[in-house]
Amino acid sequence: MDNSASFSAPNLSRRQLLNFLTGAVVASTAGAALYPAAKFFVPPTEGDDSGRILAKDKLGNPIPASQILSEPPGTRALIAGLAGEPTYLTIQADGTLSSMGIVNNCTHLGCTFPWNGVDHQFQCPCHGSRYDEMGSVVRGPANQPLKIVHVAVENDTIWLSPWTEADPRTGDRPWWVA
Ligand code: FES
Repeated sequence: MDNSASFSAPNLSRRQLLNFLTGAVVASTAGAALYPAAKFFVPPTEGDDSGRILAKDKLGNPIPASQILSEPPGTRALIAGLAGEPTYLTIQADGTLSSMGIVNNCTHLGCTFPWNGVDHQFQCPCHGSRYDEMGSVVRGPANQPLKIVHVAVENDTIWLSPWTEADPRTGDRPWWVA
């Protein structure tokens, strides 16, 4: 008796079932991948009258400073910042958070980028722009430094506020201030 046909040529109902299962897996996988990204860009609402807001994780929950500071010096922690912009916070050599957050938005065409801890640069994968640890351009095509924000820690809470005064890297008025 030869019953291999049932494995090599599934009938319509089996095809439908397989298509459904495959689609469900793809849909659930894509949903799992998109959910954090979508949530990441939902503007945080908690803040105060001065325009500052709480640093949050990708699920929209405030991040205690102690959680980030449990990582080693040199760590760049990506959080949801002002207007939901992904923003890097830096743990300094003395174990404190830098008062300057760096927005993860390439000034060339807006790609996001990783921190390269070996080269000590932010390196954009889209067209090769590179920035030093302060967000100044090391290599184009980007020709503007990365946007920065103020970072302050109070009672284990991380606050972010707009950087509107002179850019300390250039001494000039920030390009993002109208
Ligand atoms: S968007 Fe980053 S180099 Fe073009």
